[in-house]
Amino acid sequence: MRKRLVAGNWKMNKTPSETKAFIQEIAPLLADADCDVAFCVPAVDIIPAVEAAKGSVIGIGAENMYFEEKGAFTGEIAANMLVDAGAKYVVLGHSERREYFGETDEGVNKKAIKAIAHGLIPIICCGESLTQREQGITLDWIRKQIRIAYFGIPAEDAVKTVIAYEPIWAIGTGKVATTGQAQEVCGAIRELMTELYSAETAESLRILYGGSVAPANAKELFAQPDIDGGLVGGASLKLDFVKVVKPE
Ligand code: 13P
Repeated sequence: MRKRLVAGNWKMNKTPSETKAFIQEIAPLLADADCDVAFCVPAVDIIPAVEAAKGSVIGIGAENMYFEEKGAFTGEIAANMLVDAGAKYVVLGHSERREYFGETDEGVNKKAIKAIAHGLIPIICCGESLTQREQGITLDWIRKQIRIAYFGIPAEDAVKTVIAYEPIWAIGTGKVATTGQAQEVCGAIRELMTELYSAETAESLRILYGGSVAPANAKELFAQPDIDGGLVGGASLKLDFVKVVKPE
Protein backbone atom coordinates (compact mmCIF):
# COMPACT_ATOMS: atom_id res chain seq x y z
CA MET A 1 0.00 0.00 0.00
CA ARG A 2 1.44 3.36 -1.02
CA LYS A 3 1.53 6.07 1.64
CA ARG A 4 0.31 9.39 0.33
CA LEU A 5 2.82 12.25 0.14
CA VAL A 6 1.77 15.88 0.13
CA ALA A 7 4.78 18.07 -0.60
CA GLY A 8 4.93 21.84 -0.78
CA ASN A 9 7.20 23.44 -3.34
CA TRP A 10 7.87 26.95 -2.10
CA LYS A 11 9.71 28.04 -5.26
CA MET A 12 11.45 31.43 -4.64
CA ASN A 13 9.44 32.40 -1.57
CA LYS A 14 10.13 32.93 2.15
CA THR A 15 13.33 34.12 3.82
CA PRO A 16 15.07 32.00 6.47
CA SER A 17 13.31 33.87 9.30
CA GLU A 18 9.92 33.59 7.60
CA THR A 19 10.63 29.89 7.11
CA LYS A 20 11.32 29.33 10.78
CA ALA A 21 8.18 31.18 11.88
CA PHE A 22 5.93 29.44 9.35
CA ILE A 23 7.12 25.90 10.08
CA GLN A 24 6.83 26.45 13.82
CA GLU A 25 3.27 27.62 13.30
CA ILE A 26 2.11 24.90 10.91
CA ALA A 27 3.89 21.88 12.47
CA PRO A 28 1.42 21.32 15.35
CA LEU A 29 -1.52 21.62 12.92
CA LEU A 30 -0.06 18.77 10.86
CA ALA A 31 0.75 16.49 13.80
CA ASP A 32 -2.17 14.12 13.10
CA ALA A 33 -1.64 13.90 9.32
CA ASP A 34 -2.11 10.36 8.05
CA CYS A 35 0.32 10.86 5.17
CA ASP A 36 3.90 11.97 4.58
CA VAL A 37 4.27 15.75 4.54
CA ALA A 38 7.17 17.74 3.11
CA PHE A 39 8.23 21.27 2.30
CA CYS A 40 10.75 21.68 -0.49
CA VAL A 41 12.32 25.06 0.12
CA PRO A 42 14.97 27.46 -1.20
CA ALA A 43 18.53 26.31 -0.37
CA VAL A 44 19.14 28.95 2.32
CA ASP A 45 15.90 27.96 4.04
CA ILE A 46 16.79 24.27 4.39
CA ILE A 47 18.72 24.51 7.67
CA PRO A 48 16.19 26.74 9.49
CA ALA A 49 13.36 24.58 8.10
CA VAL A 50 14.99 21.37 9.35
CA GLU A 51 15.54 22.90 12.77
CA ALA A 52 11.97 24.19 13.02
CA ALA A 53 10.55 20.85 11.82
CA LYS A 54 12.49 18.73 14.33
CA GLY A 55 10.21 16.32 16.17
CA SER A 56 7.32 16.98 13.75
CA VAL A 57 5.91 14.92 10.86
CA ILE A 58 7.36 17.36 8.33
CA GLY A 59 10.24 16.31 6.08
CA ILE A 60 12.30 19.00 4.39
CA GLY A 61 13.49 18.97 0.80
CA ALA A 62 15.45 21.06 -1.69
CA GLU A 63 14.15 22.43 -4.98
CA ASN A 64 17.20 21.49 -7.05
CA MET A 65 20.76 20.16 -6.84
CA TYR A 66 23.71 19.52 -9.15
CA PHE A 67 24.75 16.09 -10.41
CA GLU A 68 28.49 16.40 -9.77
CA GLU A 69 29.94 15.23 -6.46
CA LYS A 70 31.86 18.47 -5.71
CA GLY A 71 34.26 20.94 -7.23
CA ALA A 72 34.43 24.07 -9.37
CA PHE A 73 30.72 24.62 -10.10
CA THR A 74 30.11 28.12 -8.78
CA GLY A 75 26.63 28.63 -7.46
CA GLU A 76 25.67 24.96 -7.42
CA ILE A 77 24.76 22.71 -4.50
CA ALA A 78 25.79 19.05 -4.17
CA ALA A 79 23.71 16.14 -2.91
CA ASN A 80 25.91 15.54 0.15
CA MET A 81 25.48 19.19 1.17
CA LEU A 82 21.70 18.75 1.12
CA VAL A 83 21.95 15.55 3.15
CA ASP A 84 24.27 17.17 5.68
CA ALA A 85 21.85 20.11 5.99
CA GLY A 86 19.10 17.61 6.87
CA ALA A 87 17.18 17.45 3.60
CA LYS A 88 15.28 14.27 2.81
CA TYR A 89 13.80 15.12 -0.60
CA VAL A 90 14.90 17.00 -3.70
CA VAL A 91 12.64 18.25 -6.49
CA LEU A 92 14.21 17.55 -9.89
CA GLY A 93 13.25 18.78 -13.34
CA HIS A 94 10.50 21.19 -12.32
CA SER A 95 9.04 22.83 -15.42
CA GLU A 96 10.20 26.26 -14.21
CA ARG A 97 13.78 24.99 -14.09
CA ARG A 98 13.36 23.49 -17.56
CA GLU A 99 11.89 26.72 -18.95
CA TYR A 100 14.09 29.37 -17.30
CA PHE A 101 17.30 27.51 -16.52
CA GLY A 102 17.71 25.08 -19.41
CA GLU A 103 17.16 21.89 -17.41
CA THR A 104 17.03 18.81 -19.66
CA ASP A 105 15.77 15.25 -19.26
CA GLU A 106 19.38 14.06 -19.48
CA GLY A 107 20.38 16.40 -16.64
CA VAL A 108 17.43 15.24 -14.56
CA ASN A 109 18.57 11.64 -15.09
CA LYS A 110 22.10 12.42 -13.85
CA LYS A 111 20.74 14.34 -10.88
CA ALA A 112 18.33 11.53 -9.97
CA ILE A 113 21.17 8.97 -10.00
CA LYS A 114 23.30 11.20 -7.76
CA ALA A 115 20.41 12.01 -5.40
CA ILE A 116 19.62 8.30 -4.93
CA ALA A 117 23.31 7.51 -4.35
CA HIS A 118 23.25 9.93 -1.42
CA GLY A 119 19.99 8.65 0.03
CA LEU A 120 17.85 11.61 -1.03
CA ILE A 121 14.34 10.97 -2.35
CA PRO A 122 14.09 12.63 -5.76
CA ILE A 123 10.70 14.04 -6.72
CA ILE A 124 11.02 13.84 -10.48
CA CYS A 125 8.76 16.27 -12.34
CA CYS A 126 7.21 15.86 -15.76
CA GLY A 127 4.44 17.67 -17.58
CA GLU A 128 3.18 18.89 -20.92
CA SER A 129 2.51 22.40 -22.24
CA LEU A 130 -0.94 23.51 -23.35
CA THR A 131 0.17 23.29 -26.99
CA GLN A 132 1.31 19.70 -26.51
CA ARG A 133 -2.02 18.82 -24.90
CA GLU A 134 -3.90 20.43 -27.77
CA GLN A 135 -1.73 18.56 -30.25
CA GLY A 136 -2.70 15.29 -28.58
CA ILE A 137 0.90 14.34 -27.74
CA THR A 138 0.66 14.54 -23.93
CA LEU A 139 1.20 10.87 -23.18
CA ASP A 140 4.03 10.48 -25.72
CA TRP A 141 5.77 13.53 -24.24
CA ILE A 142 5.43 12.35 -20.63
CA ARG A 143 6.65 8.85 -21.55
CA LYS A 144 9.72 10.37 -23.19
CA GLN A 145 10.48 12.51 -20.14
CA ILE A 146 10.14 9.55 -17.77
CA ARG A 147 12.08 7.09 -19.95
CA ILE A 148 15.06 9.46 -20.06
CA ALA A 149 14.82 10.44 -16.37
CA TYR A 150 14.97 6.74 -15.35
CA PHE A 151 17.61 5.65 -17.88
CA GLY A 152 20.09 3.33 -16.16
CA ILE A 153 18.26 3.43 -12.81
CA PRO A 154 17.68 -0.11 -11.52
CA ALA A 155 14.33 -1.20 -10.06
CA GLU A 156 15.60 -1.25 -6.48
CA ASP A 157 16.44 2.46 -6.84
CA ALA A 158 13.40 3.41 -8.92
CA VAL A 159 11.08 2.38 -6.06
CA LYS A 160 12.77 4.95 -3.82
CA THR A 161 11.79 7.81 -6.13
CA VAL A 162 8.63 9.88 -6.44
CA ILE A 163 7.19 11.16 -9.73
CA ALA A 164 5.22 14.41 -9.91
CA TYR A 165 2.97 14.96 -12.92
CA GLU A 166 2.51 18.71 -13.32
CA PRO A 167 0.78 19.93 -16.47
CA ILE A 168 2.52 23.25 -17.19
CA TRP A 169 -0.77 24.96 -18.08
CA ALA A 170 -2.12 24.17 -14.61
CA ILE A 171 0.83 25.59 -12.63
CA GLY A 172 0.07 28.83 -10.82
CA THR A 173 -2.88 29.47 -13.10
CA GLY A 174 -5.72 28.37 -10.84
CA LYS A 175 -6.66 26.12 -13.77
CA VAL A 176 -6.48 22.65 -12.24
CA ALA A 177 -6.52 19.58 -14.48
CA THR A 178 -9.76 17.63 -14.24
CA THR A 179 -9.48 14.53 -12.08
CA GLY A 180 -9.97 12.54 -15.29
CA GLN A 181 -7.04 14.27 -17.02
CA ALA A 182 -4.77 13.93 -13.97
CA GLN A 183 -5.66 10.26 -13.41
CA GLU A 184 -5.20 9.43 -17.10
CA VAL A 185 -1.61 10.68 -17.13
CA CYS A 186 -0.70 9.31 -13.69
CA GLY A 187 -2.15 5.93 -14.76
CA ALA A 188 -0.13 6.04 -17.98
CA ILE A 189 3.03 6.77 -15.96
CA ARG A 190 2.36 3.75 -13.78
CA GLU A 191 1.82 1.61 -16.89
CA LEU A 192 5.13 2.82 -18.27
CA MET A 193 6.88 1.92 -15.00
CA THR A 194 5.39 -1.58 -15.31
CA GLU A 195 6.84 -1.78 -18.80
CA LEU A 196 10.25 -0.38 -17.78
CA TYR A 197 10.49 -2.37 -14.52
CA SER A 198 7.70 -4.60 -13.22
CA ALA A 199 4.14 -4.41 -11.91
CA GLU A 200 5.55 -4.66 -8.38
CA THR A 201 7.86 -1.66 -8.87
CA ALA A 202 5.10 0.37 -10.51
CA GLU A 203 2.69 -0.45 -7.70
CA SER A 204 5.04 0.67 -4.95
CA LEU A 205 6.20 3.95 -6.54
CA ARG A 206 4.38 7.15 -5.59
CA ILE A 207 2.99 9.39 -8.31
CA LEU A 208 1.87 12.90 -7.33
CA TYR A 209 -0.25 15.45 -9.17
CA GLY A 210 0.75 19.12 -9.15
CA GLY A 211 -0.84 22.23 -10.63
CA SER A 212 -3.19 24.52 -8.70
CA VAL A 213 -3.82 21.95 -5.97
CA ALA A 214 -5.90 23.67 -3.27
CA PRO A 215 -8.14 22.77 -0.32
CA ALA A 216 -11.15 22.73 -2.66
CA ASN A 217 -9.80 20.11 -5.09
CA ALA A 218 -7.30 18.03 -3.07
CA LYS A 219 -9.73 15.40 -1.81
CA GLU A 220 -11.06 14.45 -5.24
CA LEU A 221 -7.60 14.45 -6.86
CA PHE A 222 -6.03 12.33 -4.12
CA ALA A 223 -8.90 9.84 -4.32
CA GLN A 224 -7.88 8.82 -7.85
CA PRO A 225 -6.39 5.32 -8.00
CA ASP A 226 -3.03 6.41 -9.44
CA ILE A 227 -2.63 9.75 -7.64
CA ASP A 228 -0.69 9.29 -4.41
CA GLY A 229 -0.68 12.89 -3.22
CA GLY A 230 0.35 16.28 -4.51
CA LEU A 231 3.17 18.69 -5.21
CA VAL A 232 1.72 21.99 -4.11
CA GLY A 233 3.01 25.46 -4.99
CA GLY A 234 1.06 28.54 -3.93
CA ALA A 235 -1.18 26.75 -1.44
CA SER A 236 1.84 25.45 0.49
CA LEU A 237 2.89 28.96 1.51
CA LYS A 238 -0.11 29.48 3.75
CA LEU A 239 -1.63 27.76 6.76
CA ASP A 240 -4.41 26.61 4.42
CA PHE A 241 -1.93 23.93 3.35
CA VAL A 242 -3.24 21.97 6.34
CA LYS A 243 -6.52 21.57 4.43
CA VAL A 244 -4.65 20.16 1.45
CA VAL A 245 -2.84 17.64 3.64
CA LYS A 246 -6.07 16.77 5.47
CA PRO A 247 -8.82 17.48 2.94
CA GLU A 248 -12.34 17.47 4.37
P1 13P B 1 0.82 25.78 -7.95
O1 13P B 1 0.28 24.83 -6.91
O2 13P B 1 1.09 27.15 -7.44
O3 13P B 1 0.00 25.74 -9.21
O4 13P B 1 2.28 25.22 -8.36
C1 13P B 1 2.40 23.88 -8.68
C2 13P B 1 3.85 23.55 -8.74
O5 13P B 1 4.54 23.98 -9.65
C3 13P B 1 4.41 22.71 -7.68
O6 13P B 1 5.67 22.26 -8.02
